[in-house]
Formats: sequence, C-alpha cells, structure tokens
Amino acid sequence: MFSKKELKLAGALAVCLLVIGVISYAAFPLQAPPEPLRLMFNVAAGNVLFNHKIHAAVSGYGLSCGDCHHTLSEDEYADAQSCSECHELDEGDEEMPKRADAFHLQCINCHKDFEAGPIECTGCHAL
Ligand code: HEC
Ligand code: HEC
Ligand code: HEC
Ligand code: HEC
Repeated sequence: MFSKKELKLAGALAVCLLVIGVISYAAFPLQAPPEPLRLMFNVAAGNVLFNHKIHAAVSGYGLSCGDCHHTLSEDEYADAQSCSECHELDEGDEEMPKRADAFHLQCINCHKDFEAGPIECTGCHAL
C-alpha cells in the first residue's frame, strides 16, 4: 500500500507534469511552415517591398496562409509556392490573371476590405 504522503507526492508530481506539458505545448506548437521574411519586387514603376512575415504573423496582421496562397487547404500550407507557378508573367484573363494583375487584385482588394494598407500606386511602388 502507498502511504497518504506518497499519494500526495504522486498527485503533486502529476499536476507538475501536466502544467509542464501545457506550457510546452503552448510554447512549441506544431512546427511552423517555412516562409519568407520580406520580398522585394523589382518593377520599373518603383520597387515594391512586401513584408511577408508581418502580414502572416499572429503578432502582425494575423492573416492565414490560405488568404493569399489561395489554392492551399490548411494541411498544405507547408507547400506554399510562388504565385508564378500558376500565374504566367505575360498572359492571363479576368478569371486567371497574369502574375502582376494577380498581385494587384489580391493585395489591393484585401487592403480595401480591411480599410488598411496602401491602395494608391505610390503606397506600394515606393522604392
Ligand atoms: C498577405 C498575403 C500572404 C500571406 C498571408 C502569406 N503569404 Fe506566402 N507569399 C505571398 C506572396 C505574395 C509571395 C511571393 C510569391 C511570388 O514571388 O510569386 C509569397 C511567397 C511565399 C513562399 C515562397 C515561395 C517560393 O517558392 O518562392 C513561401 C514558402 C510562403 N509564401 C509561405 C507562406 C506561409 C507558410 C504562410 C502562412 C504562415 C504564408 N506564406 C502567408 C503572400 C502571402
Ligand atoms: C497552384 C496554382 C496557383 C497558385 C500557386 C496561385 N494561384 Fe491564383 N489562381 C489559380 C487559379 C486556377 C485561378 C482561377 C480560378 C480561381 O479563382 O480559383 C486563380 C485566380 C486568382 C485570382 C483571381 C480570382 C480571385 O480570387 O480574385 C487572383 C487575384 C489570384 N489567383 C492571386 C494569386 C496570388 C497572389 C498567388 C500567390 C500568393 C496565387 N494566386 C497563387 C491558381 C493558382
Ligand atoms: C489578405 C489581406 C492582405 C493581402 C492579400 C495583402 N495585404 Fe498588405 N496589408 C494588409 C493589412 C491588414 C495591412 C495593415 C495595415 C495597418 O495595420 O495599418 C497591410 C499593410 C501593408 C503595407 C503597409 C505596411 C507594411 O507592411 O509595410 C504594405 C506596403 C502592404 N500591405 C503591401 C502589400 C502587398 C505588396 C501585397 C501583395 C503582394 C499585400 N500587401 C497583400 C492586408 C493584406
Ligand atoms: C498593394 C500594392 C500595390 C499597389 C497599390 C499597386 N501596385 Fe503595381 N505592383 C505591385 C506588385 C507587388 C507588383 C509586382 C508584380 C510582379 O513582380 O509580377 C506590381 C507590378 C506593377 C507593374 C509591372 C508589372 C506589369 O507588367 O504590369 C506596374 C506597371 C505597376 N505595378 C503599376 C501600378 C500602378 C500604375 C498602380 C496604381 C494604379 C499600382 N501599380 C498599384 C503592387 C502594387
């Protein structure tokens, strides 16, 4: 038989382990998928700096990967690709816009939806 003291000790130990488990889980969630920090788009009209990390970070604008990498479901976020894997540089239409139009549509529409972020040419083509 276990003494009352031993049982108490075991109980306290179990609580400790549970607390450590909860903290570890909160501190190290599922490994985050790889993603770029900042991207510079070189455009003759003015280079565009896109802060990828701030857009996607919970501590930033808190957007989800799929808001932009729009063909991916949640369990595919680690496979995020460049938009130009699908959106061609020089050919497209309204439904399947070419790369630059895809950026303009996605970036600007979201900034309008949020009423935040640049929508004027010079707000993005700033460099
Ligand atoms: C606000 C829109 C937005 C959000 C949110 C976003 N991304 Fe991106 N991501 C982009 C854009 C734009 C590019 C550049 C694509 C290009 O160069 O064609 C990019 C590029 C990438 C690339 C590099 C692809 C390559 O091969 O060049 C990876 C990897 C990536 N994103 C992963 C992620 C992950 C993971 C998340 C979620 C944690 C995420 N992204 C959230 C817009 C976004
Ligand atoms: C795996 C292929 C693929 C990738 C990668 C991809 N797209 Fe698309 N995109 C499509 C297809 C197919 C359509 C047309 C059908 C539809 O709307 O889903 C489309 C349509 C669009 C449209 C027009 C329709 C709408 O939703 O307004 C925009 C804007 C767009 N993509 C932006 C982007 C951006 C920005 C990226 C990169 C962050 C990206 N796409 C990456 C395949 C892709
Ligand atoms: C799904 C929504 C969404 C998309 C898509 C998006 N943004 Fe933003 N963006 C935001 C929000 C929200 C802010 C925050 C503005 C604020 O809080 O003042 C922002 C801010 C910005 C800013 C100003 C602050 C900073 O981070 O430098 C720039 C520049 C910017 N976005 C560029 C872009 C570009 C370029 C793209 C497309 C490649 C893009 N954004 C796509 C939501 C979006
Ligand atoms: C929200 C940010 C944003 C705003 C606002 C914006 N752009 Fe852009 N623009 C981009 C990005 C990102 C690219 C890069 C596309 C690429 O590399 O394929 C681009 C590419 C371009 C290009 C070169 C691509 C091409 O061949 O079409 C031109 C020209 C351009 N923009 C003009 C404009 C003009 C004019 C305005 C205002 C009416 C404007 N942009 C507003 C983000 C923006």
